[in-house]
Amino acid sequence: MPSKPVLWITRALSDNTLARARKDYDVILDPADNPASAQSIIEHSQKVDAIIPCHSEIFTENVVNQLHDRVRIIANHSVGVDHCNLKAFEKRGIVVTNTPDVLSDATAEIAFLLLLGAARKAVEGDTLVRSGQWTTWSPSFMVGQQVTGKTLGIIGMGKVGQVMAKRARGFDMVVHYHNRSRLSAQEEQGAVFHESLDTLLPKCDYLSLHCPATEATKGLINTDTLAKLPKGAILVNTARGALVDETALLESIESGHLYAAGLDCFATEPCGNPALAKHQNIFTLPHIGSATYDTRDAMGFRALDNLDAFFSGAEPRDRLV
Ligand code: DGY
Repeated sequence: MPSKPVLWITRALSDNTLARARKDYDVILDPADNPASAQSIIEHSQKVDAIIPCHSEIFTENVVNQLHDRVRIIANHSVGVDHCNLKAFEKRGIVVTNTPDVLSDATAEIAFLLLLGAARKAVEGDTLVRSGQWTTWSPSFMVGQQVTGKTLGIIGMGKVGQVMAKRARGFDMVVHYHNRSRLSAQEEQGAVFHESLDTLLPKCDYLSLHCPATEATKGLINTDTLAKLPKGAILVNTARGALVDETALLESIESGHLYAAGLDCFATEPCGNPALAKHQNIFTLPHIGSATYDTRDAMGFRALDNLDAFFSGAEPRDRLV
């Protein structure tokens, strides 16, 4: 019987994923579940045919260039691949895949949680009750922004953006969006396309980010773009921290131009941004957009589907390079 390919799974994936992986691969797994350093990635590459990493493992050009020739495929357990230098992988002839589609529902749920929480003062209210300092009530107490019927702007109308738009329609929100290309009428479902942020931003009561972090989108939300939002707007980011200039965001919150923000992603992860976290009108979560049991299984299975295809000689469905 031919030996199984050796697969390094860098982080603790779901039990169902690990059980399935062990059937078809010789799995190497670090029980400590720490992000793998550059050195550890390079060392592991000497003894494995394939890697399933998460966005916590950073494959810079330097790391990719030092990977052992034995590694043939990186089957990411993530939709975002900004932790991978794809050009360097292409040059090395190493296949890279991701896990699109399967985390759209979970991520849109967290985006909506952040949107509602930011609008309706979830942090402030929770802190008040939890700390035993809730001593009064009046009609002017804890008044927030209504969501129903307002305008939601979406930047990045891929799968997650489209689910977000669908959930927003459940709140009778009017959806406007900016995307590299306009969607079909069927996909738009009435959402209004903007070729440029200049026309989108002034319309947004709420703005939710759903585009990948690339050289082109890094710092997309900055002093200029924030100033184009109407006063009182709310920003939601469940995509990547790199999209937002956090100094500009802080200034906008502190000046009162932005009413609130909901953030699941930060420039520095793990940790976040203590200066942002000081503000009760910033609802923060620790990058858990896709963290549901269902979605973790679906992501793991999708990564394994890509590996299975590759090792059977077929084209992996989610091949990027
Ligand atoms: C993704 O899949 O990109 C999520 O951010 C989790 O890594």
